[in-house]
Amino acid sequence: MRDGEMEIFESDIFDRIMKYFYKAYNNAGDRSIFRNDISEAKKIISEEIPEFPTGIAEIVENVFSIIEHGECNFLSPRYYGYITPRPLPITIIGDWISLIGNQTPGAWRGGPIATVIENTVIQWIAQFVKYEMANGSSPQGIITSGGSMSNLTGLHLARNNAVERGGTLANIRYYICETAHLSIYRSLSLLGAFEDNICVIPIDCNQRMNTLILRKQIKEDILKGFFPAAVIATYGTTSVGAIDDISTIKEISMEHGLWFHIDAASGGAYAGIDFYIKEYGSLNVGNSVAIDPSKWLFSSFGVGCLLVYDPAELKKAYSISSDYWENESEADNFQMSFICTRAWRSLGVYMAFCQLGVSGYYAIFDKLSSLADTLMNEFEKIGCLVLRGSKLPILAYKIPKYDDSFHKCMIEEAITLNIAYMTHVNIGGNLYIRVALSNYETNEEDIIKLIEFTKKCIESGSYTC
Ligand SMILES: Cc1ncc(COP(=O)(O)O)c(C=O)c1O
Repeated sequence: MRDGEMEIFESDIFDRIMKYFYKAYNNAGDRSIFRNDISEAKKIISEEIPEFPTGIAEIVENVFSIIEHGECNFLSPRYYGYITPRPLPITIIGDWISLIGNQTPGAWRGGPIATVIENTVIQWIAQFVKYEMANGSSPQGIITSGGSMSNLTGLHLARNNAVERGGTLANIRYYICETAHLSIYRSLSLLGAFEDNICVIPIDCNQRMNTLILRKQIKEDILKGFFPAAVIATYGTTSVGAIDDISTIKEISMEHGLWFHIDAASGGAYAGIDFYIKEYGSLNVGNSVAIDPSKWLFSSFGVGCLLVYDPAELKKAYSISSDYWENESEADNFQMSFICTRAWRSLGVYMAFCQLGVSGYYAIFDKLSSLADTLMNEFEKIGCLVLRGSKLPILAYKIPKYDDSFHKCMIEEAITLNIAYMTHVNIGGNLYIRVALSNYETNEEDIIKLIEFTKKCIESGSYTC
C-alpha cells in the first residue's frame, strides 16, 4: 500500500461527498440553470503543475470550490436542453461501485461478473424496447460509450455488409434523412464515405424521411451504377422528436437487400410501449439499432448500446485478436466491439432497471409526454407555432410575429431568470425555441413558469420581464 493511500478512508471525505451529492439533487431547482464564471474558477486553478503532494481532503474541497463557478444544471427540473437528463442517483452509485475494483466487461478474464451483468443489460435493453427475434428471444449487441459510438458501430456493419454483397467504397450509397443526427455524417465519413456516397433524403410535411423520394432515389441510383448499401432512419429526431416510418423504410430496404440501421438513440427508450409500436412500428425491423441509456433511461453520461439482429455480424467485424490474448472458448465482448478495455458503465443501467422496473419507467414517460401535451396546447392557445414530430416529449415553438433574434434573446432571458434552459433549432430556415423534457422531476408548476413567461413576451412585445 502506498503511503497516504488509506488517508481517504480515515477522513470524513465520503461524508463530505455524500453531502455534496445530496445537496446537488435536493436543491437542484433553486440553483441557477446555468452558471459560467470561468474567470473565477481560473483564479483557483494553478497554471503550474503541482510540484509537491497535497492531502486528499484538501484536494476534494478545492475541487468543490472550483466547480461551483460553472454548471450546466441538468438536475434542475426546468432544464429542457438537448436530451441530457437528470441521471438517476443510482446510476452514479453504479458507476462508482464499478470503478472500485476497476472491472472491465470487455473480457471474461478482466471482469467475469462485469461481463455477466453487461450481457444481461444488453438483453434487458432489447426486452425493454421490444427488439426481439421471431422466437421471442433477445438479439445481442454491445455496450458502447453513447449514441454516436453506437451509430458508428452499426454503420460499420452496414458498410461491411455492402462490400460483402459486391459494393465497393467508390460506388456504395447510404440513404439518410436531412434531419439525421450529426453522428451519422461523422460515422460515414470515418467509414470512408465522401459526398457521392451519401444521399440525403428530404423530409415530408411531418418532419419524417420522405419515403416516396427514398424509393425513387434508390431505383435511379441503381440505374446510374451506384450500389445502395444502407438506409438510416431516426427514431426520434433531435430537433422535434419525429419518428421515421420504419415499417415502410424496412420494406424499401428489403426490396433491394439494403442494411437497415435505426438511430433510436433519442426515442428508442419509448419504442416498447404498445402505443408507439402501433403508431410508429417496431424496432425489430432494424438490422442494427442504436440505443442511448444516457437519454431517456436516465443514466449518467457515457453509456450507449447497439442492438444487432444477427450478432455474428459484430463478431465478423471485430473478432480479430492478437498474440497477447489467449482466446478461450467463451467469446469476449471486446471481440464484438472496437474498444478493448472499457469502463463497466452498464452497472448503473442494471441498477436503474432494478430500481424502477419497466412500470416505473413507463410512469415517468407518461408524465413527460403529458407535460409536453400541455405545453403544446398552451403554446398554441397563445398563438405560437408549434412543431412536434411524435408523442415524444420534444417540441419546438416560435412566435410568428417576432424574428430570430427576439427568440434568441428569449432563450437567454429565460436562463437568466431561472425559468427555463432551452436551446434553439433551425427548421426550414426559421429559428425555433426547442424544449425537450428529459428530467423525471419536472412537474406542471415548472412548465407553467415557461408558459407564463412566453405569454408575457407575447403580450409585452419584449423578452425582458
Ligand atoms: C438522434 C440522436 N442520435 C445520436 C445522438 C448522439 O448521442 P451521444 O451524444 O450519446 O453520442 C444523439 C444525441 O443527442 C441523438 O439525438
